Amino acid sequence: MIHKKTCFSLLAIFLFLFASHFAGQTSRVALDDPRIEARVDALLKQMSLEEKVGQLVQRDASAGITGLGAGGGAWAEPVAGGKIGSLFNITNPSEINALQKVALEKSRLRIPVIFALDVIHGYRTTFPVPLGMAATWDPVLVERASRIAAEEASAAGIRWTFSPMVDIARDARWGRIVEGAGEDPYLGAAMARAYVRGYQGKQLDAPDSIAACAKHYVAHGAAEGGREYNSVDMSERTLRQVYLPPFKAAVEAGAATLMSAFNSLNGVPASANEFTLKEILKGEWRFPGFVVSDYTAIQELMAHGIANDGPTAARKAFLAGVDMDMESKLYLALVELVHSGTVPEGAVDDAVRRILRVKFALGLFDHPYTPEKARLATIKPEYLEFARSVAEKSFVLLKNEPMASGAPALPVSSSVQTMALIGPLADDAPDMLGPWHTAESKPKDVVTLRVALAERAAASQIKLSYARGTDIWGNSETGFAAALKAASQADLVVLALGEDAGSSGEGGSRAHLDLPGNQQKLLEAVAATGRPIVLILFNGHPLVLTPVVPHVRALVEAWFPGVQAGPALARTLFGDANPSGRLTVSFPRAVGQEPLYYNALNTGRPAEGIDLNHRPRTADERYHSRYIDEPNSPLFPFGYGLSYTRFTYSPLTLSKTTLSARALNSGQAEPLRVSAEVKNTGGRSGEEIVQLYIREQGTSVARPVREMKGFRRMALAPGESKRVEFTIGRDELAFWNIDMKEVVEPARITIWVGPSSVEGSQGGFEINE
Ligand code: NOJ
Repeated sequence: MIHKKTCFSLLAIFLFLFASHFAGQTSRVALDDPRIEARVDALLKQMSLEEKVGQLVQRDASAGITGLGAGGGAWAEPVAGGKIGSLFNITNPSEINALQKVALEKSRLRIPVIFALDVIHGYRTTFPVPLGMAATWDPVLVERASRIAAEEASAAGIRWTFSPMVDIARDARWGRIVEGAGEDPYLGAAMARAYVRGYQGKQLDAPDSIAACAKHYVAHGAAEGGREYNSVDMSERTLRQVYLPPFKAAVEAGAATLMSAFNSLNGVPASANEFTLKEILKGEWRFPGFVVSDYTAIQELMAHGIANDGPTAARKAFLAGVDMDMESKLYLALVELVHSGTVPEGAVDDAVRRILRVKFALGLFDHPYTPEKARLATIKPEYLEFARSVAEKSFVLLKNEPMASGAPALPVSSSVQTMALIGPLADDAPDMLGPWHTAESKPKDVVTLRVALAERAAASQIKLSYARGTDIWGNSETGFAAALKAASQADLVVLALGEDAGSSGEGGSRAHLDLPGNQQKLLEAVAATGRPIVLILFNGHPLVLTPVVPHVRALVEAWFPGVQAGPALARTLFGDANPSGRLTVSFPRAVGQEPLYYNALNTGRPAEGIDLNHRPRTADERYHSRYIDEPNSPLFPFGYGLSYTRFTYSPLTLSKTTLSARALNSGQAEPLRVSAEVKNTGGRSGEEIVQLYIREQGTSVARPVREMKGFRRMALAPGESKRVEFTIGRDELAFWNIDMKEVVEPARITIWVGPSSVEGSQGGFEINE
């Protein structure tokens, strides 16, 4: 029998749950919520200048108070004194709770600290690296992965991640290309939105939501020569057209914070750039959140050469619009700068207001602690399964040629009885986690290819042998003999080659994009046995595969797939999963082609129709925009990827043949609809990524040869066909014109709907006045 009191409590709980649920539907916490603003106002009024400046200070807890050593409990004192707004790099929930308790019980105004961490592609459940996530072309899946990351990170008390990195990267040499979505602004914007939605959830103040931080603002990916932290010089048009859209998308999706970049942009460091921070971000886009600098980027203003002392660096960064100083320890100078009248206190108030807004919006004042028991001891089985499916969708099948039997090398044929697994990445758990994984992302959670393949091969009565062959970066050939012996006895060789996680990511720029160490030599030695090779490539940079491809029958680009690397690959090799990933970066034929990207301008002397496979023989072959020793095209283009089945595209159907620029610009025009029938003509179910591209000609400024304006992932059973329809309106057609206005102009438009940036059914229409 239920006691009367219990009954009442149950009713109260029910009413509370009902009310919270209802509140969840109606009052989505947004940064510009007036209720938050009122609380910020009330608090701001009570703050001393020192307390305000304290909110602008972020410290790396692992670097210690002095910046020289491990931190630990030493943070209690500055937190109690209200001198710290945020700490990062602590993952222990009891340590986080203990420091939060100091903030709430010992500091005068009881303002909670916001604890941050680089949660880049999963917290405990490690997903593929972001470049692999982008290769899925599936924002829904990326959103779910980020939600899982938020859930796991917040359980440890982390309420802010320095992710997503939304830098467009057009240069394969740049190490951080692995951390973003690749070279395309449209896809980059779609991924930016997905990450932000996933991290921040439906309710930013839900205990399992974390604030996103779109980084590195801005143009970090355009570092000259692909060299880390290098300078950037680009036109405002390219900035607005290519590099800003993913940031804008993140801001529109509600990203609570942005990180200002290390690089200089047209001579002005991005962390002291009033034009990009104040004028564009906080002005044009009305960004309500706050900007944190990248790590010691404010101090680095001195190395850039725009400040000769710390206070000047602090003043320049602060007045340009950087609200929080990550680890430079220079914003403390703001107290004196305000006293001396160099910095107006109103500017400090604005920065504090932005930071408090985010803290209130996260619910940090209302539920500051994390229940320590919530910390995950293991990865949930459903998350593991999801991580496997994300990895499967991230793989890009780059080549799949027939074996002697006539059947393609993949999926593995039932005639294969012996298999050799060779290579330094075949049984390498730590590197499967890729660069920028968290301390909670553990090699022991990884199932390697060797482990998963052994299981899968045994189930098919295939005899599997294994040899490491060589190291990733080594030059010793002592492992070659065993590898060659295994290869020569196998019906099929599976090679697992590529980069280690440290070869890309921050500080991982490369001047050579070949297979590291002596892996190419191992590949050629194995190929000389005459046994057919399936190559699985693990890497963060797009590599130069020109000398690799001729030696292999099949090639699977696997990136760094995360905890479920092995099972996802084994299922793909055996056809339980059909590859559907597509490249979001161009793979060069030679390093000298970089920067290489599909959405380039045409030039006045395009090399169209010229045979570029040999040195120019005539003046006509020479005086074109070309190399004399390499074709212009990438080895594998943007958007490319094969499947175990085939897809065909019907001719396009367009709803009209003309549009009016005036009507489009005034929002009066009905968008144009373009559609094509896509058919699975092969023998297996598969997923195709249908891509829409346009080209605009006759405009006031030159436009790219192709620009992606839509994509759709679609599943098709064998023989099945589906019509895919895209709309083309103002958003798709407007660009930054000669007057630096984002408008639609009269133009001739070519459209393609197809499987990559170099194929597709073609159509066209006119935009008149
Ligand atoms: C430097 C990196 O550039 C940035 O991406 C990262 O978030 C910070 N360090 C903090 O770890």
